[in-house]
Amino acid sequence: MQPEQRTQNDNGQLATAGQRYCVGIVGAGSIGCYLGAHLCQDAALDVKFFGRETMALELAAHGLSVTSFNHQTYYAQPVAFFSSLNSLIECDIVLLTVKATALVPMLAQLQRFLRPEVPLVAMQNGIGIGEMLAQDLANPVLRAIVPFNVVKNNAGQFHRATSGDIILQRNQFDVVNYVVSVFNRLQLKVELCDDITSAEYGKLLLNLNNALNAISGLPLQQQLLDRNFRCLLSYAMLEWLAICERIGIKPAAYTRLPNALLPWLLRLPTPLFTVLAKSMLTMDTQARSSMWDDIQAKKRTEIMFLNGAVVRLGQLYHIPTPVNTLLVEQIKRLESGDNRPLTAKELLRQLA
Ligand SMILES: NC(=O)c1ccc[n+]([C@@H]2O[C@H](COP(=O)([O-])OP(=O)(O)OC[C@H]3O[C@@H](n4cnc5c(N)ncnc54)[C@H](OP(=O)(O)O)[C@@H]3O)[C@@H](O)[C@H]2O)c1
Repeated sequence: MQPEQRTQNDNGQLATAGQRYCVGIVGAGSIGCYLGAHLCQDAALDVKFFGRETMALELAAHGLSVTSFNHQTYYAQPVAFFSSLNSLIECDIVLLTVKATALVPMLAQLQRFLRPEVPLVAMQNGIGIGEMLAQDLANPVLRAIVPFNVVKNNAGQFHRATSGDIILQRNQFDVVNYVVSVFNRLQLKVELCDDITSAEYGKLLLNLNNALNAISGLPLQQQLLDRNFRCLLSYAMLEWLAICERIGIKPAAYTRLPNALLPWLLRLPTPLFTVLAKSMLTMDTQARSSMWDDIQAKKRTEIMFLNGAVVRLGQLYHIPTPVNTLLVEQIKRLESGDNRPLTAKELLRQLA
């Protein structure tokens, strides 16, 4: 519940006269556990994890530990884990970390258990998430973008594999800003952003490759070394950039190159691309997109919030999106159980 008196000491930690801030991590998977383990380091936060029974058992048996490419390690044991959402009533802030596909089934429970004044931070990839939540919830909804990848290495062990600062919509909520200060103190940097739509649209530009990677069945690096796959990604990006231009939104750039030049870079011959886009190719040789993981796990993917959003907005603004439409269709085929990968040449033939 809402504490009465709070002040920050020199370390930025809360000195509370009464209760602590209660943080709910709703959807304790890769991102939820990674963020939650950081927040558990702060004595003034009471962190509650909400998720599946299997995860509860896993964390009870192995504890929770998180590591990072920059060698930061945090442990949290025991963690307060709940497989029902009843205890959400106690939370002063919620970090919503389920996949976008899990949001609709969760809405009724959020409406039932979350106090209406509690800010909810939606951390999903994709477009239209904030609007969808705000339509059905009385709570203030804030958007956040996670630019790095987190993978589960072993039971209870989550590893952050790439760099990048979390981007969060600027806001006036003390509890949110306290949580931000905890992340920053633990070197998990959070950048506050005034134009979250631009940030969201820019992230989508990069996420358009998730589907292509899943369809290719190849590790990311191998896929990006195939010029035909890069051309397809380039065309998918051009469709999205044309829509952004029509709507009048300038997508934020997450690479050193301006967004407008990315499609051009991707279409360069491979030897030149390898030199100019060295950082884009610096990754674990076996790394694949999370959409590929979802297909392997026979789960629904977030395609309708990614390439599907491009198709939807393309229809709305009368901008053709043949490449993203094809990618959506192919992901639907994979979701339906036909998991034959396609080469870039086969995809290009289908487009022609
Ligand atoms: N992982 C990354 O590196 C990364 C990076 C950037 C952004 N993101 C975004 O962050 C979001 C979360 O991704 P993630 O990889 O952390 O997903 P995840 O590992 O699948 O975690 C979500 C967890 O929430 C659980 N869940 C779903 N519905 C629930 C419900 N009603 N009650 C309780 N638990 C429920 C899921 O269980 P089930 O699987 O059984 O449904 C899963 O354990 C996604 O939108 C993703 O695009 C992820």
